[in-house]
Amino acid sequence: MATWNQPRASLTMLLYVILFTSLSRAAKVMFTTGTDVHGVTRELAANRYPALYTGDYGDCMGGQSLFSITKFDAAYYADNMTIVLHMDGTSSLRNESLMMRIAVDAYGENRFDMVVNPCNLNIASLCPVLANVPVRAWAEIRVGPQQIGGIPDIAYEIPDFEGTTRVQFFANSSQKEVACFQAVMKNGNSLSHAYVIAPFMGLFTMVAIIASFFTATYGISVPHMRMHHAHSLSVFIVFETFQTIFFSGALSVNWPSILIAWWTNFAWSAGFVYAPPFVQSINSFAGVKSNSGQVGGSGPLVINTGEGLIGKIYGRSLMARGSFNATDPWRYEWGGDSVAPGLPLPGAWIGFPATLAAIGIPAADAFVFGLLWFLIAVALVVVAVVSVKVLLELLASARLIKEDRLAYFRSYWVGFLGHALLRALIVGFFMLMTLTMFQFSIQASVGTIAVAVVLFFLVLMGVTSPVAYGVRYRTRHGTFNIVKDRAVFYRSKWRALPIWETRLTEHQLKIKPVFSIPLYRLRHDNHGDDYPTVHLDQPYVKRFAWLAARYRRTRWWYLAYYVAYLFVRAAFLGGAGNVPIVQVYGVLALDMANFAITVIIGPFEGARNTAMGVWILNICKILTTSISIAFLPQLNVNRIITTVLGVIIIVIQGFTVIALIILIILSALSSRLSLLRNQEEFTPRWLDLARIRYFEKMQTKAQDRWKLPSGISSKEEDIKEPTAPPEPHFAVTGVRRGLTVEDEFDDSTVYDSQQSLREEGSNRSMAGQPRDRSSQAGSIRSRLSSGSLPRTGRVSRMSWSSREFVDPALLERPDSTLAERLSGITFTITPDDGSSTMTKDNASVSGESSISRVRPQASFRSFRSQSTSRASSINEKASTPTPTREAFGFPALNRPSTLPEAAEPDE
Ligand SMILES: *[C@@H]1O[C@H](CO)[C@@H](O)[C@H](O)[C@H]1NC(C)=O
Ligand SMILES: *[C@@H]1O[C@H](CO)[C@@H](O)[C@H](O)[C@H]1NC(C)=O
Ligand SMILES: *[C@@H]1O[C@H](CO)[C@@H](O)[C@H](O)[C@H]1NC(C)=O
Repeated sequence: MATWNQPRASLTMLLYVILFTSLSRAAKVMFTTGTDVHGVTRELAANRYPALYTGDYGDCMGGQSLFSITKFDAAYYADNMTIVLHMDGTSSLRNESLMMRIAVDAYGENRFDMVVNPCNLNIASLCPVLANVPVRAWAEIRVGPQQIGGIPDIAYEIPDFEGTTRVQFFANSSQKEVACFQAVMKNGNSLSHAYVIAPFMGLFTMVAIIASFFTATYGISVPHMRMHHAHSLSVFIVFETFQTIFFSGALSVNWPSILIAWWTNFAWSAGFVYAPPFVQSINSFAGVKSNSGQVGGSGPLVINTGEGLIGKIYGRSLMARGSFNATDPWRYEWGGDSVAPGLPLPGAWIGFPATLAAIGIPAADAFVFGLLWFLIAVALVVVAVVSVKVLLELLASARLIKEDRLAYFRSYWVGFLGHALLRALIVGFFMLMTLTMFQFSIQASVGTIAVAVVLFFLVLMGVTSPVAYGVRYRTRHGTFNIVKDRAVFYRSKWRALPIWETRLTEHQLKIKPVFSIPLYRLRHDNHGDDYPTVHLDQPYVKRFAWLAARYRRTRWWYLAYYVAYLFVRAAFLGGAGNVPIVQVYGVLALDMANFAITVIIGPFEGARNTAMGVWILNICKILTTSISIAFLPQLNVNRIITTVLGVIIIVIQGFTVIALIILIILSALSSRLSLLRNQEEFTPRWLDLARIRYFEKMQTKAQDRWKLPSGISSKEEDIKEPTAPPEPHFAVTGVRRGLTVEDEFDDSTVYDSQQSLREEGSNRSMAGQPRDRSSQAGSIRSRLSSGSLPRTGRVSRMSWSSREFVDPALLERPDSTLAERLSGITFTITPDDGSSTMTKDNASVSGESSISRVRPQASFRSFRSQSTSRASSINEKASTPTPTREAFGFPALNRPSTLPEAAEPDE
């Protein structure tokens, strides 16, 4: 027991010692009484925080001050109306009398200005300043109401008080300024709470990532997975929102300090997570001179020569910041340090360097710093995808989850990893482009410029070439035509809406045209009418889901446009910083044009993506930039007004973030519905109807058919009736029935021959592609999902890998009574001995050898009637729930007669 007691006793002793010393320290705080400007007298602790005090300080002579200081603290105590100044350091002056000027500026105006003779303040070390005598100045200046009347009470409360204290020294002999130091003033309140806000935002970003990831990976039918994935909130949009907010600070204008502080909360999204070891190692690479002990200097180059006074220079000695005697009863805890090398002078909130300085990063380091974090993020993406795969395998082998859980992902995880990496590259594209171009525009070391140039081309090529390839791959079988068309504007209630003339003739619409503009349209026509639409083109989805998945069928190319837009925006933001007017107006015009284009195009399939990506984010961008015009240095707007405008920007961006968070939550909920789409029972029950409505809407959206705008009457009443499809895209004359699952396993499956024919057609239309198993599987699935399945429980599977892996015995699952009513099916994929292999595309989605086999599982009901007509399905909706699960079929295949498959050329 003693052996146990001994360490414990010594530990207790240690605790007592620590407690005692800290108590005795605390006890030594001195108290004074003071009277404030309102005449209120209080007892005041000596170590209290002043109303206003200085933070980090810098050399306002650009590194040419003839003092080297290790401490510069100034404060204003409002409660006893005292200004306190504390300065330690050394000087290279030999024997010089000085005059000292103390000035406090706040919100663009001088609020306090005082010229004093140090001798009158009893600062012996400055009276006169001698070569080998260290400077130790401690001054307490009592001020009266008339001197500090310029500072209103709100200054002590407002977050991120915008003020500076400046101390200048003038040599009596030459009447010249020999030293100048400037520090920011603060009152302790700030909007910069990155350590709380960043993890909070990061949490919601994680939610969005998880929702996006699982909607992409859950399921077995590729078009179906794509459709559900399209309705989760895009992670790209989440990051773009945060990055947009942060990079608002890249405009070269005079920011209010409050905005700079606000943006620090979003710096993480652009790869600016402050890490001192990073900064130190990048500094030497980026040419930022580390000159500890010497104060500041606004640029990376700190030249240490005094002009005119050279004879008096001994050279500056280096000193560490004067450490305080902890037991000093007059000690205080506020005060800043010498500004880190490469950072701008504290109190200058101009342009991107100030935004970066708020997170402690020198402008010259920004690019390398962002790049490092981007690479770390990419590594995290790899680790995350791999660990999800490993975790699933472990859980499955431990039988903690169903063996077939996320089977598609587990087979094709390498492909998913590729998609994730490409998405990560797109997320980082704007940030990397902005930073490289910013790097070009500032003078920095040759090394960083070289790296920036290399990276600029790498990232540009790395993003544009896959995007171009993706677009080309999809359009390779067709031709682009420039078509002459007219945009006809017609009156609809109170506004004029445009419509294409070709549409009018095509649909025989009657409108009252107001005016029309002749325009040219770029149309793309696929050769062959039966070419599957982009989201049904399975090989394409497997390879280019990262490009097209979230966009509408007719807008699948939107990312190509958007990458170009982001590149131009990055060029303005990062590269045009030296000409603020061009930069600000350029970004504004670009964002307005993009807003108009995006609204007209309406690219997103999901409603939440539309809300954020089309409306909220663009409006936020435009408002922020337009308000920022007021900060242009030329306009010289009153700083109090700029602060008010800054608060307005913060409110706008705050609401944008709140909207984003709400949309993330909604997206998480809708993704939950998507992930439970194969579940028979859904609780709570009252949500079941909403769920069905959600899926129905989703299917309608996935078809992306042209809607008759309101206010237009058509000559044909029933133009939208499915009985009158615009083009019979699936009309096939010759039919060759392929080998199907049913052929292999006599499953007494009957199916609608009409439909099978149709699918044959669509399969063959995958021009240039051998009729591989995946396309065949597509036909199987689509047939099964057509709702025309026999009412038998022994249904065949419908997966890409189904043909080989089915054990007929497994098909007979008598357990489900609902199987009787089955007209849709789902599958479970069970691990096998590894002998079987899954379909491998030559595409990027190529899994390793599979361990799965597909087993149909008649585990849910379907209330769908045999009829596939839209009318009857709508009627059913009212009385019986509509099936919601995957087997309900991808809508396009479900009701092919109504589909404008490839009807709309890719404009
Ligand atoms: C006011 O308070 C500060 C900090 O405690 C102290 O240094 C200063 O001497 C006080 N002024 C007066 C006039 O007491
Ligand atoms: C500094 O200069 C003054 C007059 O210029 C002289 O009186 C004084 O002795 C000098 N001090 C030292 C330490 O050299
Ligand atoms: C320095 O010059 C000012 C006036 O220019 C004078 O008031 C002050 O006394 C001088 N300081 C010393 C130490 O001589």
